[in-house]
Parts: sequence; structure tokens; C-alpha cells
Amino acid sequence: MEWKQRLSSVAVMTGPSSAASGIEAFIRDLPKVELHVHLEGSMQPGTLLELAAKHRVDAVPDSLEAIRNWYAFRDFPHFIEVYLASVQTLCDEEDFARLTADTAARLAAQNVRYAEVHVSLYNHLMRGVPARVVFDGIEHARREAEREHGIRLRWIPDFPGDFGVETGEETLDAVLKDGPESVVGFGVGSVEVSREPFTDLFARARAAGLRSLPHAGENGGPERVWEALDLLRAERIGHGIDSMRDPRLVERLREAGIPIDVSPTSNLRTRAVEVIDEHPLPRMMEAGLLVTLNTDDPPMFGTDLLNEYRVAHGMGLDADALAALARNGVAASFLDEAAKRDMTAEIDAVLARFR
Ligand code: ADE
Ligand code: ZN
Repeated sequence: MEWKQRLSSVAVMTGPSSAASGIEAFIRDLPKVELHVHLEGSMQPGTLLELAAKHRVDAVPDSLEAIRNWYAFRDFPHFIEVYLASVQTLCDEEDFARLTADTAARLAAQNVRYAEVHVSLYNHLMRGVPARVVFDGIEHARREAEREHGIRLRWIPDFPGDFGVETGEETLDAVLKDGPESVVGFGVGSVEVSREPFTDLFARARAAGLRSLPHAGENGGPERVWEALDLLRAERIGHGIDSMRDPRLVERLREAGIPIDVSPTSNLRTRAVEVIDEHPLPRMMEAGLLVTLNTDDPPMFGTDLLNEYRVAHGMGLDADALAALARNGVAASFLDEAAKRDMTAEIDAVLARFR
């Protein structure tokens, strides 16, 4: 239980110091999965700059330095504002393929073997970009990345809840009409509103074989998580950190073994938490919740998955706890059972070598 001891330092993406190189190598060597990362939020600033120029999107700043400043978020709605502007730079099949190829290569370089990636489908539909364009682009690059890097990607199309249930209906219609087999789930994100109006929509998605994967309790309070569980029949909760404010909810999540996608740096950068030392990740693990570690929108938050493991280590989580997070990710994924067994055995072997 050493990992319960809190360290005050917070890792930033500066790479290993010599004292930290043991844990750094351990984090690198752990085979990992990413279960909560947004494709559009994975765009590197250089790509954003090029695509903004290509499609003449004025809402995006025109230098790398200005983009870095743009990524200093005042609060969560401000983050969403910036996200919505940057999404406008994705217009044709080549843009979606390029973003997917780059995202997959970066994940593979961190020893990420499998990722379930959110796609803000409605944000493209609303601009007149057909679902076929999005799916053709991301599918082409997904297959190529699997051949080239061995990484497997699966998709979670979603819609912004604050845009209303009709936008969710339109998104689901497009998924059911044009979505490839690699779509595993359906999600709702953006500014957090009540999940109650989406009850029938998610019932329709589930009936079509899609997993219910909503954001809930990122900053909207425990009630959103109750709704996600009871009304949307969520199989995982995106963020869910507000659950810790309701002991009954913690008990429900623990008993049902519902996985929670946690992204500490995201929560810090959107100001869902004030300082990293107040982040509930260690308490969530102590409470017996099935927590996984994720990046959300990595370049927008100045992070990647290796860094999230460093940040978790900085919160006092030792190698055993980091390995538990990696194992939880595998368990909470929609990988087949044989792949889960193999990855879990590999995590155990990396941990045994570290010890
Ligand atoms: N879309 C992209 N990132 C998001 C987040 N952290 N919460 C809700 N919607 C999002
Ligand atoms: Zn998210």
C-alpha cells in the first residue's frame, strides 16, 4: 500500500531524470491501452496550423506560439470553445486519415497496443461533412496503422449533449447507416447536461449492439453519473471524478465493477480540479473502483499516456498501482478474452522484472 503515500511532485513532460529512470523505463515497457482519447483532440499543433491554412479557418491562431497560448483554458466551457474551433479544420477524407495515422503512430510509440477512440461525429455532420467522409478517412488509416505498427483502434462516435437530443439522433442514424464494424460504442460529451433526455437514444444504440459510453461526472456532479448508470446503462463512465462526492454512488460503481476513464491532466487543465494534489485518482483506487488511466485530448492538455502514468506516480502510486491501472485498462476494454489474457500476462511480467 506504499502507493497511498502522497508525493507532492507532479510530473510534466520533461522526460526522465536519472533518479526516475527506473520507473520511467517501467512505464515505457508496460503494454498499455487508451480507452478515453478524442481523435479531434489528438491533433498536434503543427497539423492544426497546416489544416487551418489549407481550409482557411480563421478561428484558429496562425502560429505555434499562439496555439500554445490558446491552449491555456480559463475553465471547461472555454476548453470546449477552443475544441469546437479546432474541429473545423477537419474537412476531407485526407484530413481524417492524416490525423488518425499520426494519432496511431504516437500511441504505438508509447507502447499502446489498443485504443478506443472517441470521434466527435456530430461536429462534422453539422458542418456538412458527410459521415462517409469521416469513416472512410479514419478506417483507411486504422487498417494501415494496424499493419504498420500492430496497434488496434476502435471507434466511439459521439455528440455534444448540450446541442440537444436531436443531434444525438442524427449522429446515431449516421453511425447505423455508414459506421464500420470497428465502431464499438456510442457516446455523449461536451458541456455536461442532464443525461435523462438521452434515455431512448441510448436504448436504441444499445439495441443496435453499441456499448453505452457517456461522459458523466467530469464536472456536472454525481447526479450525471447516476443518470448514466440508471438511464443510459453505461458500461463505462467517462471521467466520473465527481462520483467521489457521493458515497452511495461509489458503492454502486464498486459493486457493479463499472470502469471509470480517469484523465488527471485533463481535469487539471480544464480546471475540474484546482491542483493535482486534490485529484481523486488515489482515493478512487483506495475505494476499490475500477479506474483506468487516459489522456482525453493529449496535445491540448500538454500530455500523453506515458506522462499520465508519470503524473499518477507523482500522486504516490507505485509500480504495483501503475500496473493495476494498466491491467484495469485491459479488463475495461472491448478486446477479446485471449488478447486480454496475453496483455495482462505481459503486464505481470514487466512488473515482475521491475521488482
Ligand atoms: N470533448 C473533448 N474532450 C472532452 C471532455 N474532456 N469532456 C467532454 N467532451 C469532450
Ligand atoms: Zn472526453
